[in-house]
Amino acid sequence: MSTRIIIAIDGPAASGKSSTAIRVAERLGLQHVDSGALYRAATAARLREPGERDADRWVEADVLAAARRLVRLVPSHRSFLPQLDGQAADQEIRSGDVTARVSAVARMPGVRAWVNEQVKATATTHSIVVDGRDIGTTVFPEADLKIFLVADPWERARRRLRQRLSHEPAEREIAEEVDRLMHRDHRDAQQSGQASDAVVLDTTHLTQAEQVDRIVALANAVTHRGDGTSGP
Ligand code: CDP
Ligand code: CDP
Repeated sequence: MSTRIIIAIDGPAASGKSSTAIRVAERLGLQHVDSGALYRAATAARLREPGERDADRWVEADVLAAARRLVRLVPSHRSFLPQLDGQAADQEIRSGDVTARVSAVARMPGVRAWVNEQVKATATTHSIVVDGRDIGTTVFPEADLKIFLVADPWERARRRLRQRLSHEPAEREIAEEVDRLMHRDHRDAQQSGQASDAVVLDTTHLTQAEQVDRIVALANAVTHRGDGTSGP
């Protein structure tokens, strides 16, 4: 086993990947990397350039040029976070405009190579918990632990809305969000994968704390198995 630890957390939209990954990273003293945030940042970068509304005509070279010019993956306390033009841009990368366009951007092979290069670079200096769609299958097939998070679509939609809104969502709002999530899952299917050696965790009836506890326990079992090392 290498001295650096890599934990991969994959799963569909709003299955709880990022919020779980950061808590797991905190508990284990690792660094969190949100690969989806990089796809979102590339999309937001392209949206800052001319022709931004005409997403059907976006070409890979322009998306990549905007991403290379504007996006930097910067280490903060527990996470590597993408900055846009030197500024934190969490709200911008999670806007509806970005969410509607990100799946198409993520299908561009050059953009995938650009994201993967940066994600892999983090593992040369840190032990990491990485979340995304293809981390256990493509980016880090050698990961020490692979988790595949799933949850019932209705519950995923309810959680995503509660995260975004200040009130408990109505049934109609949840139904509309289910449609959006299913549409995105469908569009992402080509670039998503469940590794054959991933542990599948259905979080529909788990609390956030329970799902974090389970992953921490699995990680401890894996990392204390051999020489007891657990990198920085
Ligand atoms: O948080 P949410 O599940 O809504 O999405 P995200 O993790 O922020 O990812 C945004 C988008 O990036 C996804 O809808 C995929 O199109 C893409 N993505 C990908 O293709 N591969 C990854 N490893 C991570 C994200
Ligand atoms: O990264 P991904 O899109 O997969 O999901 P997320 O943004 O980490 O999680 C979506 C929301 O579900 C967050 O507000 C979580 O706190 C919440 N949640 C959860 O992930 N698991 C639970 N058991 C309960 C709530």
